[in-house]
Amino acid sequence: MLELKNVTKTFGNVVANDNVSIKIEKGSIHAIVGENGAGKSTIMRIAYGFYTADSGEIYVDGKQVEIKNPEDAIRLGIGMVHQHFMLVDTMTVAENIVLGAETGGAFNLDIEKANRDILALSNELRLGVNPKAYVEDISVGAQQRVELLKALYRDASFLILDEPTAVLTPQETEDFFNILRRMKDQGKTVVIITHKLEEVSAISDRVTVMRDGKVVGEAKTAETTSKDLARMIVGRDVLLRVEKTDADPKDIVLEIEELEVSGKHGDALRSVSLNVRAGEIVGIAGIEGNGQTELIEAVAGLSPVARGSIRLNGAEITKYSVRKRIELGIGHIPEDRHKRGLLLDSDLEENAILGVHYRAPVSSAAGLLNTSYIDRRTRELIENFDVRPPNPHLSAKSLSGGNQQKLVIGREFELNPKLLLVSQPTRGVDIGAIEFIHRKLIDLRDNGSAILLVSAELEEVTALADRLLIIREGKIVGEVDPKTTTKEEIGLLMTGGNFESAEGRTE
Ligand SMILES: Nc1ncnc2c1ncn2[C@@H]1O[C@H](COP(=O)(O)OP(=O)(O)OP(=O)(O)O)[C@@H](O)[C@H]1O
Ligand SMILES: [Mg+2]
Repeated sequence: MLELKNVTKTFGNVVANDNVSIKIEKGSIHAIVGENGAGKSTIMRIAYGFYTADSGEIYVDGKQVEIKNPEDAIRLGIGMVHQHFMLVDTMTVAENIVLGAETGGAFNLDIEKANRDILALSNELRLGVNPKAYVEDISVGAQQRVELLKALYRDASFLILDEPTAVLTPQETEDFFNILRRMKDQGKTVVIITHKLEEVSAISDRVTVMRDGKVVGEAKTAETTSKDLARMIVGRDVLLRVEKTDADPKDIVLEIEELEVSGKHGDALRSVSLNVRAGEIVGIAGIEGNGQTELIEAVAGLSPVARGSIRLNGAEITKYSVRKRIELGIGHIPEDRHKRGLLLDSDLEENAILGVHYRAPVSSAAGLLNTSYIDRRTRELIENFDVRPPNPHLSAKSLSGGNQQKLVIGREFELNPKLLLVSQPTRGVDIGAIEFIHRKLIDLRDNGSAILLVSAELEEVTALADRLLIIREGKIVGEVDPKTTTKEEIGLLMTGGNFESAEGRTE
C-alpha cells in the first residue's frame, strides 16, 4: 500500500530521519515503536505531506508519488490523526470535521447534510459520536474518535495514528482497537505509533522499531516479545516494573477537608477529604472524568473551590493564588502539557524558569534576569532529564512529545517541591524514560516530598502508590492497599459495579 524508500529529513542540524525505508502492506495494521525523538512522527508526517523529505521516494500502490502537502495525501486516500489533537473546543463535532474539507466553502456549508453524513459514518463503525455536540463537552476518548472520523470523512483508506491511545483509558483503548479491527475488515490499512508494547501485540500484524532516526528492526508481531522489543527500542534491557521499598510517611503535608468543586455538568467534587504525608505517594485511580482533574487543579490553585478547605503543612491555602502556592512549595505536572505545562513558542530556557521567573535566583530584586544562572539551570535540567536534542535555545514545540514531557517533569522536580501534584506523568514517554521517571518519583518520595498522583494507567498508579484511593463521580469511594489489591477490586470500585458507566460521565 505504502512504501517509503531511503527517506532523509533534517531540521537544522538534527537528523530526524536518516535513510528510512518502511513498507506497509495493504489491509494490515502496522506498529511503529521507538524512543522519544526517534523520528516516528516525522516519517509519518512526511507520508502525510505535513513535512517534505530532503531526499527519498514514496510509493502508493506501487506507483511513485509526490506528496507535497496534506491535500496531496488526502487525494491519495491517506489520513492522519496527530499526536496532539487539533480540534477547536468551541465548535461542534461536525464543524470540526468539515473544517478544511468542505466542498462549498465555509459560508454556504450545508451543516445539516454534514450532520447526517457524519452520523451515518459514525454508526457504520459504531463510534458513538454525536455530530452536534460541542468538542469541549465530550470526553477525550470521544475526541479521539472525532479525529478518526475527520480522516474517514475525507475517504481515507490508509490511516496514520500517532499515539492514539496515549490519552485513553484502558476501556476506551479496547473499544478503539475494536474499531480498528472493523476498519481492517473493511480493507483499510492502519499505521499506529505507540509506546505501549502490550498494544503492539494486541493490535498489530507487523512492527518496525526506530532509533536515532533510523530503522533498527522490523518483524512479524507474532514472532517477537515485549522483552525483545524493549531491548531493540532502548538498546539495553529495561525494567518493565517498578521497584521500591515501603514508604516511611512522616507529617501530614496536604490536608483536604470536605472539598467541593463545581464543574460544567454539576458538582465535579463532592465532599472529598484526604491527606498526603511527607514521604508517601498517594495514588488516585478512577475512570477519566470523575473528578481527578478538578481535584489536582483545585490544590494547584487553578480552579475555584466552592466549599471545604485545603491545608499545606497546617496552613490554610484554599484561597491562595497559584504563584503563592508555588512559593510555598507546591509543584504541578499537569495532564495536558500543551494547555498548562509549556509555552510552546518559547525556548527551553524560558520554559525551564516558568513559574519562578520573577524571583531570586532567576531574577534580581530590580527585576533583571540572571542569564548565567538561567543558562546553567537549563543545561542541568536538560542533562539530568535527558531532554533531546540538548539545545537550550530550541522552541518547546520543536521537541518530540516525550521530550516535552521530560522538560515539564524536570522543571518541577528541580524545584524540589514539598508537595508534588502529578497527572499522567508518563503519557507519551518511551519505556526507557518511564523507568527513569518512576525512579525519580520514588527518589523524590524518599527525600521527603509528599506526592499526589493521578494516572489513567491502572498498573502505573498501583505500582507507584503507597496508598491508593478510588474516585467515582467526584467522591472518594474507597481505599485499597496497592500491594494486595486486584484489578477486579479496583474496577468494581471505579465503576460502582455498574459497567455501563465505564465509558465515563461526560458522554
Ligand atoms: N518541526 C521541527 N523542528 C525542529 N525539530 C524537529 C521538528 N519536528 C521534529 N523535530 C526533531 O526531530 C527529531 C524526531 O522527532 P519526532 O517528533 O519524529 O520523534 P518521535 O519518534 O515521534 O518522538 P515521540 O515518541 O517523543 O513522539 C527530534 O529530535 C525532534 O526534536
Ligand atoms: Mg511523536
